[in-house]
Amino acid sequence: MASHDGAGIPRRAHAGPPDPCAMILFGAGGDLTKRKLLPAIYNLAASKLLPEDFAIVGVSIESYSNDEFRNQMTKDIREFSADGVDMSCWDAFVKRLYYTSGDFKDPKLYQKLKQTLELAEKEQRTEGNRLFYLATSPAFFPTVVQQLGSAGLTQHEDHNWRRVVIEKPFGHDLASAVALNHAIGEVLEEKQIYRIDHYLGKETVQNILAFRFANGIFEPIWNRRYVDHVQITVAEELGVELRGGYYDGAGALRDMVPNHICQLITLTAMEPPISFDADAVHDEQTKVLRAIQSLSPEHVLDHAVRGQYGDGSMDGKHVPAYRDEPHVAPDSHTPTYVAVALNIDNWRWAGVPFYVRTGKRMAERVTEIVIRFRRPPFVLFRDTSVDQIPSNELVISIQPKEGISLRFEAKIPGPVVSLGAVNMDFEYSDYFGSTPSTGYETLLYDCMMGDPTLFQRADMVEAGWSVVQPILDVWTALPPRDFPNYAAGSWGPAAADELLHREGREWRNPAVDARRKAASPAPTAKPAQKPTAAAKS
Ligand code: BG6
Repeated sequence: MASHDGAGIPRRAHAGPPDPCAMILFGAGGDLTKRKLLPAIYNLAASKLLPEDFAIVGVSIESYSNDEFRNQMTKDIREFSADGVDMSCWDAFVKRLYYTSGDFKDPKLYQKLKQTLELAEKEQRTEGNRLFYLATSPAFFPTVVQQLGSAGLTQHEDHNWRRVVIEKPFGHDLASAVALNHAIGEVLEEKQIYRIDHYLGKETVQNILAFRFANGIFEPIWNRRYVDHVQITVAEELGVELRGGYYDGAGALRDMVPNHICQLITLTAMEPPISFDADAVHDEQTKVLRAIQSLSPEHVLDHAVRGQYGDGSMDGKHVPAYRDEPHVAPDSHTPTYVAVALNIDNWRWAGVPFYVRTGKRMAERVTEIVIRFRRPPFVLFRDTSVDQIPSNELVISIQPKEGISLRFEAKIPGPVVSLGAVNMDFEYSDYFGSTPSTGYETLLYDCMMGDPTLFQRADMVEAGWSVVQPILDVWTALPPRDFPNYAAGSWGPAAADELLHREGREWRNPAVDARRKAASPAPTAKPAQKPTAAAKS
């Protein structure tokens, strides 16, 4: 099947296998490979979405023969494939695996790789198409790209393609992201570069665009006239686990905001693109990021909250404080939580705050986007038992719940006027079932198809860093004095609640809301007068 750079996945009417190609996996011995990439590639193979002529060449420091690598991958897929492994499919697949070991900084590795690749290309008839995947520590990104270029491995010819996928984190601040773009841009053309953000591989994230632009009823109210504010929550129950070495140098702001959270902001806030071509979509996403009001130091002090978890209890078990996690400094100032109020200064969103927050060791694992609408005028209910009308709320649930729900008010049956909140709920699995997915399948498939829509362009990455850079600057200059400031298993620091309370709003804390609902009986109708003619006027 023909592929070309610049096509857009949503335009694709049928999914079939991509061009023959070889995937070269740097970091083949690492965690990402075994937990995500290998299961994703296997799922693609099982769904017949890999080319028939396909090869994988693993590259890592560990020394393995091809056979040892194949055995290791067989062990790993058995352990990490969430939905079991069809061994007849795997046995056919495993023969396509090759391996080269060496030091990523050593030019000799790339000569060895060239030989292995030539062998794999010949044996598996992959026609010279190459997908390099950098699942390595970010410190190696520029080195590997430069060495690939010097070894002549990335230059494409008319009849074949060479693409490079770069994992996150893409830089650790604005200046380093610009420098990294520059370094890889010396070797690769922009259309060869696929900067990955695995949030864009989630079906529910892609569905934001379908929801907004394939329905006529939401777009007219998707703006400052009707929306009071937007909340974006990415809360994790997990702590930092064994990633303290990386995380302690990064923290919640760098780890989650310029990338995953910025993707959620842009998809929620962007204008309809003129088409689903990658550039058309990226242009609109980038415009949103550029329209985010640059944060002054005063705004950072008042409207950005950082936190670090102390010990606490989760599911009845004691969990340690961040500072007691492996590879974390005992006096670490690294934030594991961040909340910030952002303003998008354009015609659609001016005056509508976007409150975003993310944290580890929070009360509940939940990623969701909440659109709170403006309240209707109260006058009609003045003389009833109703003392306030809550806002309508649209919740786009990304994970673990996958769906959309709309909360609105209904009259509680009975002789008096009394309101109760009700929900219209859509859950993905009710309608579409569920297919095994790590979130990487679509992204890997898209790379092979030459479709960069769900990847980040250089300017988008830089625009994302520009949003957080002022916060990094202030927080670096003023180390926190109150860490740890939230208990593991809670909803984060009190200052984050305060941030919204000051503006007469509050976070939607889903499990708490659900528990509250379960604990309190259905609203009962208090005797009250029906709306009177006076009240109606
Ligand atoms: C990664 C971060 O990019 O995303 C992790 O580095 C975080 O710290 C993870 O846990 C969250 O991804 P998901 O898909 O579990 O929401």
